Amino acid sequence: MKNIKIEKKKKIGGEVSLPGDKSISHRAIMLGSIARGETRVKRLSDCVDCRNTLTAFIKLGIEVEEQAEGELTIHGQGLKGLSPAKEVIDVGNSGTTMRLLSGILAGQDFSSTMTGDESLRKRPMRRIILPLREMGAKISSPDDNHPPITIVGQKLHPIDYHSPVASAQVKSCVLLAGLYAEGRTSLTELSPSRDHTERMLKYLGAPVEVKGRTIFIEGVSELEARQITVPGDISSAAFFIIACLLLHNSQIKITGVGINPTRTGIIDILKKMGADIVIENVHELCGEPVADLIVKSSSLRGTEIGGELIPRIIDEIPVLAVAATQAEGVTQISNAQELRVKESDRIGNLVSQLSRLGASIKEKKDGMVISGGKRLAGSSVNSFGDHRMAMALTIGGLIADGETTINDVACIDTSFPGFMDTINRMVK
Ligand code: S3P
Repeated sequence: MKNIKIEKKKKIGGEVSLPGDKSISHRAIMLGSIARGETRVKRLSDCVDCRNTLTAFIKLGIEVEEQAEGELTIHGQGLKGLSPAKEVIDVGNSGTTMRLLSGILAGQDFSSTMTGDESLRKRPMRRIILPLREMGAKISSPDDNHPPITIVGQKLHPIDYHSPVASAQVKSCVLLAGLYAEGRTSLTELSPSRDHTERMLKYLGAPVEVKGRTIFIEGVSELEARQITVPGDISSAAFFIIACLLLHNSQIKITGVGINPTRTGIIDILKKMGADIVIENVHELCGEPVADLIVKSSSLRGTEIGGELIPRIIDEIPVLAVAATQAEGVTQISNAQELRVKESDRIGNLVSQLSRLGASIKEKKDGMVISGGKRLAGSSVNSFGDHRMAMALTIGGLIADGETTINDVACIDTSFPGFMDTINRMVK
């Protein structure tokens, strides 16, 4: 198990362009594979999760040519143009791959089995099994919840589904299955979650309509292949933004970051906490809003985070918790029980590991309470194999006195292979 040692740093500076958004990269591979014709993708994330999506589609008969880092051409074979994989499809750590791909496989004319690593095999799949069954899919798992899952492709029919969890993965799974159903499928969300699937489907000409919290999709015979350039990943940017806010006399510019409103909860909350973040050069890229962010060191104040904000910051909570340890006053995070079923139990693990660095943090069933203003001190901490935990603890290590050892950091490659190099290049 690889570990790294982090020394306290004085400041961070410079301009950086981060790798493509992981969520959008998954969707570009998936929709490029089931569109008919050539999809040129640029700035695709090279993370392990997205590699697992790519490998899955190659196993399902899709040809892919890689031109350069982050640039590839997918030879899409149409909605029903996939062919049966010769073996079980192992999607590693990637919940997005398993849940979204299930929607696509449910509408094929063949059977598939998907599994994943130890962490993914503990994650709930009932949330997609139930709506897919309602659509007529034959889908099963040993305990009707956890991977491996087997899907016997079927003719699907449309449903009107009210999702009991605010999850973009569940929403996307149902919408993708809806492409294969004759007629109009709808999904109503509890709170708005990332809408990259809806945007990319629209960009590729699919009949998607959004009314309030309900998304409608009509079954189609084909999607039109189009070039896709992926914006920079705001979830990766969050680590740099918070490092810059917490280190004194620092300023950074992050160019070409996705600022889709369903993902910018982190900017909204940090600004409310007193962060100096300027958004400039706003423009649109393949149906997604993109901008440059200029961030300066700031004094932060504690805040309350809950309700509809949670899906908009779900992946940024680990690093936001690090920011809260340095804010003046108390930060209270509620309604975030979904964190318990992410790549690790992010509530339990944040509380135990940030406590080891000297933070004052208390666990709640659905979140945590952090009393800020405590000086952190270097210690030995563990990521528990969770990439966002490893990166959040790295930011903690940059501000903690002395040296911090972070154990189990190979998982960082799950979402951001160049993270440590980029940080090391920018800190002083
Ligand atoms: C994702 C949705 C979120 C997020 C995950 C990526 C996606 O999961 O946590 O990292 O790409 O759709 P949920 O939709 O299950 O909350």
